[in-house]
Amino acid sequence: MFASDNSYILDVQGLTIVYRTVYGKLAALNEIDLKVKRGESIAIVGESGSGKSTLGLSIVKLLAPNAIYERGKIILDGQDITKLSSGQAASLRGTTAFMIFQDPLNTLNPVKRINIQMLEAIKSRSKHESKPFNEEEAYAEAVQKLKDIRMPDAESIIERYPYQLSGGQIQRVVITMGLLMRPKLMIADEPTSALDVTVQAQVLELMRELQQQYEMSIIFITHDINVAHSIADKMVVMYAGEISEISPSDILVKNPLHPYSQALIASIPTISKSEGRLNAISGSPPDMINPPTGCRFHPRCPSAMPICSAQSPRATSKDNSEVRCFLYG
Ligand SMILES: Nc1ncnc2c1ncn2[C@@H]1O[C@H](COP(=O)(O)OP(=O)(O)OP(=O)(O)O)[C@@H](O)[C@H]1O
Ligand code: SF4
Ligand SMILES: [Mg+2]
Repeated sequence: MFASDNSYILDVQGLTIVYRTVYGKLAALNEIDLKVKRGESIAIVGESGSGKSTLGLSIVKLLAPNAIYERGKIILDGQDITKLSSGQAASLRGTTAFMIFQDPLNTLNPVKRINIQMLEAIKSRSKHESKPFNEEEAYAEAVQKLKDIRMPDAESIIERYPYQLSGGQIQRVVITMGLLMRPKLMIADEPTSALDVTVQAQVLELMRELQQQYEMSIIFITHDINVAHSIADKMVVMYAGEISEISPSDILVKNPLHPYSQALIASIPTISKSEGRLNAISGSPPDMINPPTGCRFHPRCPSAMPICSAQSPRATSKDNSEVRCFLYG
């Protein structure tokens, strides 16, 4: 076990993860360093395949069986979870870290009604907080929380099985489960993608309220820069399994430093038209089995220099940002 600065719920150090594939090792995450303070919300943004879900899943130790933790530490609430057995890691899931998966159906048990699963979540929270569990009160709390999250017909929805719900209803149920658990860290992987814009705004508002009320930290994984900007104190930009830039959300949107962040922000044509969703940027996404040498962005970077293909840049601090690019020293 490894004790770290207690003001951080999460301290990822040099995390490197590969997937074994029939074509060779796929370099999904490379030397990731990321700290999340207690009560802080961060958003992870980046193109498809950049490693966002892999990073989220690694923190709750639920990576696919062909994944290998090659190097690094993941210190979650003071414990290095890479050293924990699967049983020990399972005991941290839920109340310490709760993950809303990109496919939310995976969070729910298909053979149990929603009410049973919600009562189990509240029971586990009560046990964790050493508080008594009262089934009637828990049921009322679950229904109320579903209403808070603007679930129409909450009393009927809670009696159903997951397969009887639509995609948007499943997302709301899963977010509600996370909020009922009151985890120290909520990892939400594209949690509002199936909701319409108005409901999405209400759900984000509710998450923010709960975050402040319970000092919950949030890692929000999204393709949507507007959503990221509205919920997160800081944004983490990923490219090809590496962190390119970590900046306060306002700064990232107004004054992105890394050439890839600049391309991302420039790829939002008009916020109102595109709702902040990212369009593809020019050039081909990298081959992650044989990633580019040096800076992984160099084949697509308009500012590339000779050193960029030869050496890998280290993260450098600049004002309130950290940026991994030779343009910054
Ligand atoms: N189980 C797996 N086996 C092999 N490769 C995988 C596996 N899971 C993910 N990958 C690969 O790892 C890389 C990172 O994938 P990941 O799902 O983390 O990306 P992402 O940023 O979440 O993408 P998206 O935005 O599409 O959800 C991709 O190249 C992906 O194809
Ligand atoms: S290190 Fe070089 S290639 Fe990479 S982003 Fe910076 S300038 Fe571009
Ligand atoms: Mg993903």
